[in-house]
This record gives sequence, structure tokens and C-alpha cells, in this order.
Amino acid sequence: MIIEKAKSYGFCFGVKRAVEIAENSKNAVTLGPLIHNPLEIERLKKEFNVGYVDDIDFIDENIKRVIIRTHGIPKDKLKLLKEKRVEIVDATCPFVKKPQEIVENMSKEGYDIVIFGDENHPEVKGVKSYCVHNRVFVVLKKEELFSIKLKEKIAVVAQTTRKIETYLNIVSYLVKSYKEVRVFNTICNATFENQNAVKELSEKSDITIIIGGKNSSNTKQLYNIAKDNCEAYLVENENEIDANWFRGKKYCGISAGASTPEWLVERIIKKIKDVT
Ligand code: F3S
Repeated sequence: MIIEKAKSYGFCFGVKRAVEIAENSKNAVTLGPLIHNPLEIERLKKEFNVGYVDDIDFIDENIKRVIIRTHGIPKDKLKLLKEKRVEIVDATCPFVKKPQEIVENMSKEGYDIVIFGDENHPEVKGVKSYCVHNRVFVVLKKEELFSIKLKEKIAVVAQTTRKIETYLNIVSYLVKSYKEVRVFNTICNATFENQNAVKELSEKSDITIIIGGKNSSNTKQLYNIAKDNCEAYLVENENEIDANWFRGKKYCGISAGASTPEWLVERIIKKIKDVT
């Protein structure tokens, strides 16, 4: 069996960085789980005593150090956290910090702010909170802007994981409708790199194994792309690997969701080698 890993898979830059920060911040908690992978969360707890709490309210006097996740947190929560007198370790991805800073600076200069993203997503909640006035509008498509009368000065940013095509639609509408539009490309390509890579790999594979949480949406997306091109399976751990899948196949592609650690990928490759 020829086993090949996708050119890009697994942790993105921001998650890799956050995990390293957690490993270097022993005896801490993260505000919410650091990544959506229970095995990695378990490892951080076991090896580094880094656990997690769901909310600031659960931070008591026994907790001395708190790690902020890649998505960042709203400004008011950061203020509350500072009042707790804990050491704050900021693992907010630099690509998320960027729109936070832009929104803060542009709103201070009197620009209306438009954010392309999901209002309920923690990253967007955080970015929105940096606006110093209340003229901030979160939209998922340009049609949502039709009923909003914006001022003549507008700054627009995007949630990092959004698709550029929809962003361009929104920007194009704004530019056509208003005099001054400052556009910031805050989209991060990491998720799309994994998708393009699994497409390329699955096109030449007989079978593709996708590793990641069955409830992880970016993992499911990888699986859907792969199964359009060849036989594909989504597994969470090595026990799910079935020797029968590989009968009569020569070429096996491997990819993993953005929350899947490298050690799990290696463990699964070893299992595939053992059974084939
Ligand atoms: Fe990852 Fe940061 Fe991009 S967390 S997906 S590198 S915005």
C-alpha cells in the first residue's frame, strides 16, 4: 500500500501556535476547549495540567493562569478576566488580532464598520466588541445591507474562515453604493489549503482516510470532497480502521481536520501499515 499525506492537512498555523503556548504554560486553564479534539484536550491535561473552564464565572482563586483561545474573546470579557488577577496568556491567532485592531482603529476614526461573518461565532463576537461606537453591522450576504443606511465612510473586514467570493460580492455592493469604503482582506487561507490539498490527493487515490472529529465541520468538509473522488472514510482513532477497506487497493491518501494533532495522524498511518 502506498500511503501519502495531503500537501496540507491538520493543524493550521494559529492552532499549532496555541497548542505550543499551552504546552509552555503548565498548570493553566483555557477559556473554553483549546481545540475541538477530545484526545488532544486530554493529553494537554495529562501532560501539562492544562484544563479548561467554560466561562469566566468558573475561574476561582485556585486558578492562577488563563489561556485565551485562537478565536480571541470580547473586550469586556478581557476586562473581567483582568479583574480576576490571573496571569493571562493570549493565544489569540495573529490573523484574528488583525481584524480586532482594524475595527478598533477605524471606528475611532469615525468609520461605520461592516463585518462579513457569523454573528454568533466567538471570533466575530470578539472582533465586533472592538468597535468603539454602535455603528457596527455583521452580515453574511450583501442583501442584508440593502435595508441599512450606512454613513459615507465605511470600513469592512471579514471573519477569517469565510469564502472570498461572497466577501467580494459584499465589497462590490458597498463600493457601488458608497463614496468611501476601506476594504481589509482578513480572510485566512488555512482551511482552503487543506481542502484543495485533499481534492488533489483523492483524485489520484483508491481510498482516502480522513482523520478528525465526526462532529467537526471542517473535517466533514474534507470527507465530502474526498468521497466525490474515491472511496473515503472518516475516522476518529486507529481502532476504527478496518482491514477490509484496503483490499484490492494500492494508493491510500491521508488528510486530517484542523483540530487533529500530528501524533494521531501517525498512529493511524501505523495502523494502516499493520493491517495491509
Ligand atoms: Fe487557523 Fe488562525 Fe487561520 S486559527 S484558520 S491560522 S485565522
